[in-house]
Amino acid sequence: MDNMNGKTLVITGATKGIGEAIATKFASKGVNIAFTYNSNADIAKELAQKWEKQYGIKAKAYPLNILEPDEFKPLFEAIDKDFDRVDFFVSNAMIYGRAVVGGYGKFMRLKPRGLNNIYTATVNAFVVGSQEAAKRMEKVGGGSIVTMSSTGNLIYIDNYAGHGTNKAAVEAMSRYAAVELGEMNIRVNAVSGGPIDTDALKAFVNYEEVKAETIKRSALNRMGQPEDIAGAVYFLCTDEAGWITGQTIVVDGGTTFR
Ligand SMILES: NC(=O)c1ccc[n+]([C@@H]2O[C@H](COP(=O)([O-])OP(=O)(O)OC[C@H]3O[C@@H](n4cnc5c(N)ncnc54)[C@H](OP(=O)(O)O)[C@@H]3O)[C@@H](O)[C@H]2O)c1
Repeated sequence: MDNMNGKTLVITGATKGIGEAIATKFASKGVNIAFTYNSNADIAKELAQKWEKQYGIKAKAYPLNILEPDEFKPLFEAIDKDFDRVDFFVSNAMIYGRAVVGGYGKFMRLKPRGLNNIYTATVNAFVVGSQEAAKRMEKVGGGSIVTMSSTGNLIYIDNYAGHGTNKAAVEAMSRYAAVELGEMNIRVNAVSGGPIDTDALKAFVNYEEVKAETIKRSALNRMGQPEDIAGAVYFLCTDEAGWITGQTIVVDGGTTFR
């Protein structure tokens, strides 16, 4: 038995893609879900209703802009009113579109503003979200924190310098957090994904090329799907992973080595 029933997951950006798959996985195991949305309020509401109906758990959506780290404190205070405990935190949401102008692009076109936005959305969001989550986890005797990373910090991906460097930074930050939160019985890890078929990837200017190349490179001869990531994140939050902390698990279909 996973012993997950009745616990609570807090996850950022679960309206679609990898976040939705992670939340669905946890909900299917009896975990209550407190999740955030940014632009898709209606979809978030529908998902909460769907998970509650399908899995008999409690699910609620909250607005959050990860470019405004000050929003995390009131977010968790709102969650406190609706949920009696926090056991897991997954830092998943990521910005795109105008917010990453100057951050998503070739090296010679990078601009401080775009890069800073990606840092805020990646590292600051992980730090402040984890701080708030850890205070709650301590009260229930421990917990597990997972940050999303990507293999774009290990291998070259066109236009990905801004994201790739910040994923490297958040992995390093998660190791620091792991050392310092261990005394509260809180484990902290990262899951580093290869290319996964989501809207974020579709926003890449060379999406079709990346997809074809991923399938070609993968030892498994297929594209990564959000559910591939969800399984690893879920595992890291179970007791089965009880002595895993300060690690990055690479989930890439074998694409990175090739
Ligand atoms: N796709 C890949 O190939 C891949 C590979 C490795 C790692 N990752 C990582 O996995 C994570 C999820 O990626 P994904 O591909 O699933 O992305 P996605 O499908 O584009 O979903 C992004 C999520 O972030 C939310 N979001 C967007 N802007 C936000 C903001 N300013 N404040 C708060 N939330 C915001 C969105 O909410 P709304 O819909 O409500 O706006 C949505 O729920 C990211 O950390 C990404 O870097 C992705």
